[in-house]
Amino acid sequence: METQLHDDRSVSELPSLDNLLAYVLQRLSDIDPELISDFDKIDPISRNHSIRVAYYAMRLIERRILQISDPVYERGFCVASMFHDIGKNGSLNGRLFGSSGLLDYQQRAVVQTHVRLGVQALQHYNEWIAAKISAGHHEHQDNPYPRDGGPHISGSQNRRSDPLAEALGECLAAIDQFDAVTDPARVYFSTVTPEAAQEELASSAYFPNEMTQAIIRDLLNIYQEIQSVIAT
Ligand SMILES: [Fe+2]
Ligand SMILES: [Fe+2]
Repeated sequence: METQLHDDRSVSELPSLDNLLAYVLQRLSDIDPELISDFDKIDPISRNHSIRVAYYAMRLIERRILQISDPVYERGFCVASMFHDIGKNGSLNGRLFGSSGLLDYQQRAVVQTHVRLGVQALQHYNEWIAAKISAGHHEHQDNPYPRDGGPHISGSQNRRSDPLAEALGECLAAIDQFDAVTDPARVYFSTVTPEAAQEELASSAYFPNEMTQAIIRDLLNIYQEIQSVIAT
């Protein structure tokens, strides 16, 4: 039987991201296969979102919009971009995407744990740098698009002594938000145009680093690239 999404469409109605996934997996060839298998248990909307976020991250690096001098952190950023929502897998699934559509208070609380669970999962697979970067992907208070119930994080202590991980966490948060708010499949908020999303993020006080701002300026280009890649 076909799995139903929160708004009664079927999974088959989500766009196929096979082309994006092939690009992403090529660059994650050294990842533990069990981590990939955990990833495949994430709900379909979050899975597609994660593939796109990873594509944004890798293309930003490839096009040298984002330059990370330390290759260990560059790899960590790519891993974090793909698996930042890994905490939504398994038992969270059914509770997140029931038939009612919008998340109730209890469901929001469940969503809010995904950052902590995701960090733990990445640590389990010895992806320590990715865990530190991923810990920051919702750590921006009063952001323009408060999602998943607003600010929540468990990774502050973890990252405090690592400014590069903190800066990359901010970069990941900007990509994450941009993709989430421009995805019509999401239920947390109304979808906005990519142009409006880019403008909001660029003017947000929560993305102060020049590295993040450079990324935000380029997001629209990669958004358009994604549309053409998935259409082929
Ligand atoms: Fe998340
Ligand atoms: Fe995300």
